[in-house]
Amino acid sequence: MRSETDDVLLLSSGEREKEAFLKAVGEAARAIVDSVNDDKAYSGIDPYDLRAIIGKLSFLPEKGDGWDVMMESVRENILPHMLRTWSTSYMPHLHSPALIEAIAAEVIIAAFNSSMDSWDQGPAATEIEVKAVRELISLYGYGKDADGTFTSGGSQSNISALIAHRDRYLEKEFGWDTKKKGLPSSYDRLRLYVSEISHFSFDKGAHMAGLGYDVVVKLPVDDRCRIDTEKARSIIEKDRENGLIPFMIVATIGTTDFGSIDSVKKLREIADEYGMLLHADAAYGSGAILSSYSDRVSDLCLADSITIDFHKMFLLPISASVLLMKDGTELDAFQLHADYLNREEDEEDGYINLVGKSMQTTRRFDALKVYMAFRMRGRDGFRKILDTMIENAAYFHSRLEADNDFISPVAPELSSVVFALKGGDERNRKARRALMKEGIIIGQTVYKGDVMLKFTLLNPLLTKDHIDRLIDRIRSC
Ligand SMILES: Cc1ncc(COP(=O)(O)O)c(C=O)c1O
Repeated sequence: MRSETDDVLLLSSGEREKEAFLKAVGEAARAIVDSVNDDKAYSGIDPYDLRAIIGKLSFLPEKGDGWDVMMESVRENILPHMLRTWSTSYMPHLHSPALIEAIAAEVIIAAFNSSMDSWDQGPAATEIEVKAVRELISLYGYGKDADGTFTSGGSQSNISALIAHRDRYLEKEFGWDTKKKGLPSSYDRLRLYVSEISHFSFDKGAHMAGLGYDVVVKLPVDDRCRIDTEKARSIIEKDRENGLIPFMIVATIGTTDFGSIDSVKKLREIADEYGMLLHADAAYGSGAILSSYSDRVSDLCLADSITIDFHKMFLLPISASVLLMKDGTELDAFQLHADYLNREEDEEDGYINLVGKSMQTTRRFDALKVYMAFRMRGRDGFRKILDTMIENAAYFHSRLEADNDFISPVAPELSSVVFALKGGDERNRKARRALMKEGIIIGQTVYKGDVMLKFTLLNPLLTKDHIDRLIDRIRSC
């Protein structure tokens, strides 16, 4: 049955429109809350059964079913099988629960639907993003020449850094204008150095930047999963002797599986020795700056650029990431004037059009989530959250290390613990699947050729008691 508000299209100053808006947002919030009746992360339904339920849904009826019928189908068929990131039984990936105030921020972001490309599409949004970037520059220890941009995630931040550094290097070393001319003929001699366990966005980026996978050199890691800087130096030296051109090196500050932290200081020395630009992929580890363990990431300011993800340790909803550049002019790689959008005369009069710093045009106002969460919780609130994550991982690891049924080869520096049940790959694979059926979702990866299990402990509500019970449950698998 259709209701009276079904014909309302948009929020406006009218009372009926405001009522319809409050009804839609309020009922959506109510449906979410009502769908949570236990602490499980997942209903446990298998992919075939879920596909059958979703497959039966009417998708684009000739005559719309109206709000009530549509919401009933969401309540019945979709919400029960959503993954609940807030559950203390969810810990497989760098995929966080979302702070409640940041979910409210998403409502504001969607309602106003600001776009970050030009000032006239988001006046307050532009000014908040500019302010957020300046505050982050100071938080991570950069100076007045730095600049930055919000992006859709760590991948886009990393790929943007790669493009900007490629352009800057070629301009500085060869007087080459990549923007105008594309790649020089010797481009296949360029080399980008990353950890062998770095994020795959650098391979993707090398392809997208026209360089190809072959320019990406994977550097070996030590026992604690950090780039072995002595081996790195000799690989780079050999490459240079062979006529290759080392132009960029990446420190991973929090590797995806282990949370291991490369030494920015040592990689800075190597970068300087070989005239390379240094990027810090701190998509994961950037959150540690607000913890009591900030000394683990305090060297970030030595890098030429930093990827910061707010949708990992900072617990903001997807998407929210920032790329900071020590020399802000490197973001000119993305500058291009369009008559309809970012007129130079407007910019001279103080209208900031952020489109010139980003590979995106239409872009979300993600900076609002950062402002609302930072303002509400402050350093103190975030310190408590982040300390809990990091200390839970240390506790988990120490329990496993002391337990004869498990191995956990790498001591955590952030909030991830990789481990295995003794007894072989098959036992570990089966354990993960068995837990998933009970609504407990843990990760799986490979370490030195063996199947391993993984906990990514981003949930600040997880207690030592939960951890103890989980260890016992896994042991019984
Ligand atoms: C170290 C690291 N860098 C980059 C990324 C990519 O971030 P996003 O998923 O936000 O694109 C990830 C994702 O997990 C990551 O672990």
